[in-house]
Amino acid sequence: MTWESVEQLYKSAGQDHLFHHINSLSHEEKEIFYSNLSNMANRGPPSKLLTDCQNAIKLQELNSQVDPNLIKPLPSTSFHSIIGNDEATNEYYKLGCDAISRGEVAIILMAGGQGTRLGSTLPKGCYDINLPSHKSLFQIQGEKIISLQKICNDCVIPWYIMTSVPTRDATEKFFVDNNYFGLRKDQIIFFNQGTLPAFSSDGKNILLANPLQLVESPDGNGGLYRSLRDNHIVEDFKKRGIKHIYVYCVDNVLSKLADPVFVGYAIKYNFQLATKAVRKRDAHESVGLIVAKDNRPCVIEYSEISKELAESTNEQGLLQFRAANIVNHYYHIDLLSKFLNEWCDNIPYHVARKKIASYDNIKDCYIKPEQPNGIKLEQFIFDVFPTIPLDKFGCLEVERSDEFAPLKNAPGSKTDNPETSRLAYLRLGTQWLKDSGALVGENVLVEVSNKLSYGGENLEQFKGVNFNKNGAYLE
Ligand code: UD1
Repeated sequence: MTWESVEQLYKSAGQDHLFHHINSLSHEEKEIFYSNLSNMANRGPPSKLLTDCQNAIKLQELNSQVDPNLIKPLPSTSFHSIIGNDEATNEYYKLGCDAISRGEVAIILMAGGQGTRLGSTLPKGCYDINLPSHKSLFQIQGEKIISLQKICNDCVIPWYIMTSVPTRDATEKFFVDNNYFGLRKDQIIFFNQGTLPAFSSDGKNILLANPLQLVESPDGNGGLYRSLRDNHIVEDFKKRGIKHIYVYCVDNVLSKLADPVFVGYAIKYNFQLATKAVRKRDAHESVGLIVAKDNRPCVIEYSEISKELAESTNEQGLLQFRAANIVNHYYHIDLLSKFLNEWCDNIPYHVARKKIASYDNIKDCYIKPEQPNGIKLEQFIFDVFPTIPLDKFGCLEVERSDEFAPLKNAPGSKTDNPETSRLAYLRLGTQWLKDSGALVGENVLVEVSNKLSYGGENLEQFKGVNFNKNGAYLE
């Protein structure tokens, strides 16, 4: 694109301000500036990006509360609890292990988020939650794959890792420096999600980061679909014979990667899409809720239902809406291909009002705001869920203490922080040891490496062994 045509594109979208300092730039600087603008225009014409932003602002106003008559808990045909149901668990486990052993299962990790709430400068996956071993989240996840491969006939499970411009280099370096945590280099595939510009708080002006660049940020975890398409990942799945895809978040230390039980559940009922849910901690926990809306599967955010509805209970005294979304998703390859072909370009954007450091080229100064001063746009992975009928969708309720301990907030904060993640991880490993017959003292916590055990198996050797001190680490 010529400089003139780039300028024309942005000016026709009302973005004249971007060029206010243009005459102060050297030829080389202009080259960089126009090329950056042109790259962003490849994502979509600036006029469309601005319309998307205006639509997102409207959507936020509309969505502030969902019509209570439209939402219902999932019907029993789409909801199954395996809490205390060993028979079903074993059946699904076997089905899942068989598919993994046949090489039909791939894992996608979403690790493109910037983790601003946690306050760490490194990608979240590098975070050390202060276990006795000081393993990072990435290492724990990598070692789960190693164990699962052993369980499943020494197969190779490909691990696709979605990063973003801000997290890519540090993530890849971390994997190289740690020798891929003992996995094969060629089973790990990094790919980047896209970025979007940031906007002024009225959504009318695109913001500059400095005289030569726009503010850019990852396009949300719903950017997964576009990035799978643009990086030709589904073609890669097909080449490898992958049929079942497990997707999860980097920030849950208890995520069961490629969980055979979950994969087996989806296979057994022929679901195209499945999610896992845990019971909400309490009526006001800030998690997404998996529900049926207008007879379609849907995730609504906690802020979208009224206090009364959030607190309402059923005849067993359980919260009526309790299926908390832990972002463990299953896709059949056919559905994923369909999503990429039909929906990728139509996923709505959501507004996130943030403090955005930017450059004011009219006053020639940098702005470091103390309060939210602008808008970042994000897509949500679950916004495509309502495109499929309920009979193709399954939600598996699992035990929270086995599967969910998210790392969202900085050390010392009230919930979902490094301390709660550490404790949940240690408690689970310790429980596995006890279940295997180890003699663990009261209040003693032991770290059980996932290299040793994926989900509590392989610990018979500790039967009758005493553990009386905290800080032990079994590898
Ligand atoms: C998410 C869920 C919420 C759920 C909660 C459970 C979404 C939109 N919301 O909320 O329903 O109850 O987790 O913990 O799924 N990510 C990217 N790229 C991005 C943004 C995020 O890869 O541009 C990744 C993050 O690295 C992380 C995951 O997506 O692995 C979750 O992202 P985050 O934005 O933190 O979601 P929550 O708001 O916590």
